[in-house]
Amino acid sequence: MGVKLIHIPKAHDVRGSLAVIEGDCIPFEIKRVYYLFDVPSDAYRGGHAHKEQQSLILALSGSFEVIVNDGKKSERIMLNKPHIGLYIPTGVWREIENFSSGAVCLVLASTEYNESEYIRDYDMFVSSKQS
Ligand code: TYD
Repeated sequence: MGVKLIHIPKAHDVRGSLAVIEGDCIPFEIKRVYYLFDVPSDAYRGGHAHKEQQSLILALSGSFEVIVNDGKKSERIMLNKPHIGLYIPTGVWREIENFSSGAVCLVLASTEYNESEYIRDYDMFVSSKQS
């Protein structure tokens, strides 16, 4: 379905780690950055696909699980490292759940926010994949 884990290059020494996203490290130009924090452990986030947007999702702190679904198969991926992001191409349904305490979910997006490019109805998503 085109979903893949991307390892962000990092510099590590006794002072800690520094990860850098630049150039062609991720397969799109970043137009927007947003993040989820103070998320209750029983919260369910996401629950949509996009007609245009590509995303990279990173667990900057803590952990959570991302369920991705291309209308045919679904996969559950745990993110718990700040330098390993999940790339999600256009047209993939995603849900995010099981947030640990203090988790911060960073999303790098290829588009500015535009509600009209969201697909928030799962049945519509599935039928868009069948046509
Ligand atoms: P929502 O899409 O429900 O978050 P998620 O699906 O990632 O869990 O967004 C929550 C609210 O924030 C909703 O009212 C739309 C708004 N929002 C913006 O205004 N700009 C943005 O870039 C995003 C992602 C959401």
